[in-house]
Amino acid sequence: MVRRIDGKAAAATIIERVKAESAQLLAETGTRPGLAVVIVGEDPASQVYVASKARMAEDCGFRSVKHVLPETAGEDEVLDLVRDLNADPAIHGILVQLPLPASIDSTRIVQSIAVEKDVDGFHLLNVGRLGSGDIAAAFVPCTPAGSMILIREVLGDDLSGKTAVVLGRSNIVGKPMAQLLLAANATVTIAHSRTSDLPALCRTADILVAAVGRSEMVRGDWVKPGAVVIDVGINRIDAPERGPGQSRLVGDVAYAEAAEHAGAITPVPGGVGPMTIALLMANTVVSACRTMGRAVPTF
Ligand code: GUN
Repeated sequence: MVRRIDGKAAAATIIERVKAESAQLLAETGTRPGLAVVIVGEDPASQVYVASKARMAEDCGFRSVKHVLPETAGEDEVLDLVRDLNADPAIHGILVQLPLPASIDSTRIVQSIAVEKDVDGFHLLNVGRLGSGDIAAAFVPCTPAGSMILIREVLGDDLSGKTAVVLGRSNIVGKPMAQLLLAANATVTIAHSRTSDLPALCRTADILVAAVGRSEMVRGDWVKPGAVVIDVGINRIDAPERGPGQSRLVGDVAYAEAAEHAGAITPVPGGVGPMTIALLMANTVVSACRTMGRAVPTF
């Protein structure tokens, strides 16, 4: 019987710890963790993500600030805002929601965020810390960090002897995911759209992480019997069976098929998604603790 990995429950556990750490920090130092989220333009999916991040930050007892800039905002305007947030001692974490409008150089904006407030883990110094194995000093991107916690829940901390295949080579998910698996002693392959015979490669994986952004691309017969399958995809597809104009969320994995082969698998929704937000909160409370020179919780 396949184990359905409950990301909602795991995220709730992390959020409880974040709340406790945040309350203790406030009681003992008078400091509240501060998270600023910046969104440029009106992409509806990004609006939803940013609103839920800001709401969760409030739930955690943080100072939560949301900056909404118009689609027409120039690069300098965004850079000025980030500069102000970098200098604001009440802000411990800064997140600029991606994608940014095409007229803005995302790399320039993201790299302008102070490394010690880079709770997304996108600053090159944080990327380098993760790549060189200094995970304790890094901010690790939230989605792979959350996925790794789910993998540890099933397989434990040491993945020696396990093979992992990461489908997708993005800077946000695929590459940092591979680094985390490698740091836990897994033997890791990163696969992507130019990889030949993806199904055969996936069938070799004890751990299969799908982060390609293509609805239900991973079929049941791609999954090694007993494998741990982590589905990072969140894709909205038409669902006429629910009524005209209705839609539903699916992952990058054909869940029902894959569940017939896997030992454990994350659902969509309710798998990796809630973990991403929980790890953003965790990174923010870690940042506040570091700033205040206090013991830093690990998640
Ligand atoms: N857009 C989609 N995922 C992310 C993320 O993890 N961080 C930011 N800043 N933008 C995103």
